Parts: sequence; C-alpha cells; structure tokens
Amino acid sequence: MMMTVLLLSCIPFKSASAQDDQYETIKKRGEIRVGLSADYAPYEFEQTVNGKSEYVGIDIELAKKIAKDLGVKLNVVDMSFDSLLGSMKTGKIDVIISGMSPTPERRKEVDFTDNYMEVTQRMVVQKKNKDKLKSIKDFSGKNIGVQKQTTQEALAQKEIPDANLSSLTRVPEIIMSLNSGKIDGVILEGPVADAYLSKNTGLSYSKLQFADAAKGTAIALPKDSPELLDKLNASIKEVRDQGLIKDYQKKANKAMFEEGSFLSKYGNYFLKGIGATILISIFGVILGSLFGGILAFMKLSRNIIVKAIAWIYIEFVRGTPLLVQVFLVYFGTTAVLGLDLSAFVCGVIALILNCAAYIAEIIRAGINAVDRGQMEAARSLGLSHSQAMNKVIMPQAIKNILPALGNEFITVIKESSIVSVIGVSELMFNAQKVQGASFDPFTPLLIAAVAYFILTFTLSRVMNVFERRMSVSD
Ligand code: ARG
Repeated sequence: MMMTVLLLSCIPFKSASAQDDQYETIKKRGEIRVGLSADYAPYEFEQTVNGKSEYVGIDIELAKKIAKDLGVKLNVVDMSFDSLLGSMKTGKIDVIISGMSPTPERRKEVDFTDNYMEVTQRMVVQKKNKDKLKSIKDFSGKNIGVQKQTTQEALAQKEIPDANLSSLTRVPEIIMSLNSGKIDGVILEGPVADAYLSKNTGLSYSKLQFADAAKGTAIALPKDSPELLDKLNASIKEVRDQGLIKDYQKKANKAMFEEGSFLSKYGNYFLKGIGATILISIFGVILGSLFGGILAFMKLSRNIIVKAIAWIYIEFVRGTPLLVQVFLVYFGTTAVLGLDLSAFVCGVIALILNCAAYIAEIIRAGINAVDRGQMEAARSLGLSHSQAMNKVIMPQAIKNILPALGNEFITVIKESSIVSVIGVSELMFNAQKVQGASFDPFTPLLIAAVAYFILTFTLSRVMNVFERRMSVSD
C-alpha cells in the first residue's frame, strides 16, 4: 500500500488547465464538451423525438448557442451531478452547464460566468401535508431530500439543521422517495419544482421560505481561462439582452409534455440499454477470463514473486467495492495516465479488471479440485509436468470451471449496472434517463428490473442445459 502511494505521488498529475486557456483546447479539438446531469427538467433532460432520443432543455439550448458562437461542435456529456466538478478538474469536460449555482466554495475550484438565469428555492411536500409543514420549525425531526452536492444540500444543512437530511444522486429518486412518504419534503430549484408539480398531482409547494438561498445559475469553467470566460460571457450577454431564456424555456416545456405512450416514447432507451449491458458484460467476462487465467497460473506458480503479485492483485480487487474501482479507472486514466478514454471504455476496463480477480479464483479452485492422484498417475505414466497439465488435469478442471464461469457472467450482468455512475448508457443508466424524462420514477425501474431478470434467468437456463450435457459426457 505504502509503495503504491509512493509510486502514485511520483507521477506528475496532468492538469487540464495548467498552461493553456481552455479556449485553445476547445478550438483545437473543434468540439466543446459540455458536462451536465440530465435529470433536471426543464434545464436538461432527455426526450424521444420521432423515435430518436436527444437532450433538450434550457441548458442544452444555451450550450448549442455557445457552440455556435465559438464555431465548434457540441458534445453533451451526461453524468451524475456530483461527478461534474471532478470531471472538469481532470479534463474530461470543458465546461459545466447544469443549472449550477456559483458558490464561494465552488469558486475556489473553478470559475463561473455571469448568471444566465435567476432562480428561487422551493420546498415541495405531499399535498396532504401541505398545512402541517409550513415553517422551518415544522420540519424539525422530519426527513428532507436533496440532490447530493448541490446548493440545496447546503441550504438544508444551514437553514433546517434539525431535520434529517437524505442526499440522493438523482432528482427522480428524490421525488420517488417523497411520493412514497419516505421523506417529507424536497428542496428544489423553482423551475424544476414547477416541472415535477405539473406531473405529480399528489405534490404541492410548502409555504416555507428560505432566508439566504442561491439565486443564480451560471456556467462553470476551469480556472485561468480568461479567453474562454470572455467568450462565454459574451454569449450570455446576448442571451440575456435578447430575452432568449424565455424561448428556451418555452421549448423545454413543450418537450416535457410531448404526447405518446410510455413504450413508444421510451422503449428505445431500454432496448439500447439492454444491448449495451450485454455487450459490456461479454467484454468483461471474455477479457476478464483471459486476464484471470493468467492470474490463476501466476498464483499457482512456484515463483514466489509472481505468486505474490497475483495474490495482492486478487485480494485488493476482491476487497474493494466495484463502485470505487469504476471511479478509480474513470478518473485515474485521465488524472494519472493522461489518457482520454470514453466512459464506455473505462467502464469496460473496470469490469474486466474486476472480473479477472474473481475468475482467477474460479480457475485456480477448478484446477485444485482435480484429485492430486491424477497428476501422480499421469507423471508415473511418463508424461512431463506440462503434458500432464494439458492432457489430464485441464480437461477435468474445465468441467469445474465452466459452470462457475456461467455464474460469474450472471453476476457481471447485474453488477455492470454500477458503471452507470460514470455515464455509460447501459440498462440502468437509460432507465434513470427515462425517470428524468417521464417524471415517473417508478415504472422505468420496474422495467429495468424485469429486463435484468429476463437476461439472467435466460442465461442460467442455458447454463443448466449446458451443464446437463457435460455431465452426460462423464
Ligand atoms: N443549482 C443547484 C446547484 O448548483 C442544483 C443543480 C442541479 N443540477 C442538475 N442538473 N441536477 O447545486
């Protein structure tokens, strides 16, 4: 551990904003990467238009205008709100346009443009509790929901310290908790609250007023990029002077109330998500098996160093959460290695690295389970060690290994949902997008659960048939 820390501290961290104005980087690339969290109608959400899904909302319109003003292409990078600042610091995105409010704490890390919108903060409650929850005092001992690492979280901590705070990653989750009564109130930005209220008739505003709430929304950009800051402010000035935000908002509202059945609007998301989940799981298991095989033989090796390396790797991976590994790969590849990999590639790499450790143990156990006498008998018949391994031990070991590999595949299908945190559009991620777009937090989860179940159940049936065949051949 000490060694890794020492090693890591020797590698110079690549700082995206160190020398160049970020404007240069954007111009050179011919593309601006705008980070946002598309769970925030009417600012940013996803909508299916003519069977094709696209990002819509006030921030998206603003981003389009800015890309046009800069003369570059727009690339929208969707991720959870609490990953945005980190992603910008490591250079994964150029700017954040995500309904973000400039705060003194954030200003220490990043720069902000002038505000492009003014907002209010509202408390939303269940309609039936409207008269019981009217003041700060009424909320003491009650549960309040906010989005993680937002100004709403800070506001709750400051102004309603006697309430219990639940900080959740995505806004639809918070609304779901409110609807089900797990929490009693939710703090939301005015326009977002309006959007949810119009779709959830059981919800209502509380009379509660905040004393000192964030009032504006701006674009965040890396520090020391005066040229980019100027250009962004020029665009914002135009937007404000021409009153464009109103138009943007109108367009967003129209998209929010698009007609059509649930499946015709969102079916595509689930199909695409299922495809991606299968793909990353296959990658994870196949490449993980290759790497895992190598690890297994390293661990069985008589060379103590080789053995130790494999042992440390396997123990480390099995002893840390996949969630942490996913973030390590996602941020580590940029911050430490200076690579510019897509979220998809990072997600797949993390799964491969993770699977390899588990599969190594499966293979090692499979080999060890073959009776010791088999090796002795083979050797006494005059076979060399490697001949005995190839001709006698491995064919028997494979019979132990394959079923366990099948189980691993099933596990990976389920676990792969974790890579949704870095924005890989697999099944879980797309289900969350639908939550945001449909204002219905529950149905998308239900569909995702059924889809995962169909995948794993089918696979386990196939494995059963396969296993029965193999036992016939015994
Ligand atoms: N305005 C709040 C903040 O700056 C919340 C923004 C949340 N944005 C989002 N896309 N979910 O912290």
